[in-house]
Amino acid sequence: MLDEINKIKTEIEARLSEINNADGVEKFRLEFLVKKGSIQTLFDRLKDVPKEEKPLIGKELNILRNFAEENYNLFKEKFEQSRETVSGIDLTLPGRKEFTGSLHPVIQTMREMNDIFIKMGFSIAEGPDIEDEYHNFDALNFPPDHPARDMQDTFFIESPQKLLLRTHTSPVQIRVMKGMKPPIRCIMPGRVYRNEAINARSLAEFHQIEGLYVDKHVTFAELKGTLIQFAKKMYGENSKFRFRPSFFPFTEPSAELDITCFLCGGEGCRVCKHSGWLEIAGCGMVHPNVLKECGIDPEVYSGYAFGFGIERVTMLRTGIDDIRLLYENDVRVLEQF
Ligand code: PHE
Repeated sequence: MLDEINKIKTEIEARLSEINNADGVEKFRLEFLVKKGSIQTLFDRLKDVPKEEKPLIGKELNILRNFAEENYNLFKEKFEQSRETVSGIDLTLPGRKEFTGSLHPVIQTMREMNDIFIKMGFSIAEGPDIEDEYHNFDALNFPPDHPARDMQDTFFIESPQKLLLRTHTSPVQIRVMKGMKPPIRCIMPGRVYRNEAINARSLAEFHQIEGLYVDKHVTFAELKGTLIQFAKKMYGENSKFRFRPSFFPFTEPSAELDITCFLCGGEGCRVCKHSGWLEIAGCGMVHPNVLKECGIDPEVYSGYAFGFGIERVTMLRTGIDDIRLLYENDVRVLEQF
């Protein structure tokens, strides 16, 4: 009898090591723990055991049954939990951290700039990325031999209409002025393309926000006031700016707006090419030829225009000193903004 008890104990151990799901647990119960199971069968035979051996055998049998029952309960608990894994979902696993996306810093900057201008009374206009020479150059008073038209600067598209990827947002000015009568007060955000060598300061694809205001008696003083007002909202009341004379075919007079370099605070460094200043916008009074081309009488109306590079503004705000970081899509960079 003791031998048989030991044999069943070994069998129990073997079965337990094979159990790997709830069905296995049930099989185990049917084999060992029911009335007709092997343990009860041994108990049934206890009555035939000689009297003096009964206490010992009875004790061993009880130990065996407890052993089987305890293990059965353990396994049952274990596999009942995983029964909750309906169609492979384990409800007991701790959750995974969800990453929420955010707007790209360039888009954040663009929206913030839009908001400031909208509060000043500008509305938003848009134009196509694929332009023609007329809107990108001719109507903007670029002479036919202007170097900016060169293949080196402009991505031309092989097409009978000589299409190109716009090199600035200024062609939208033409579309707006041809589409509506003054007063016109618009900003025109968008993507632009230039065939430039890629380095820490420039990319072949970037964003600009163009601004245009055309009405009677618009002056350069208003242009300066508007841009300074905008720049202070964007960079804080204490930031320093300067206007510097410049040239664009479509504005006369023309200027560029500089801000004190964010990196060196005006001391002079690599980013500002040791000048202490960074250019953030081109601007000027809309050239009479451009107004005329759009059917607006320059004797009656005048206007100003400006164009900001959004990446440059983003770099100033974020302290990122290499423009390429904005487009490598490295989440370690992007998730900081
Ligand atoms: N289009 C000019 C550029 O891309 C910027 C500009 C816009 C200048 C409007 C003057 C007026 O550099």
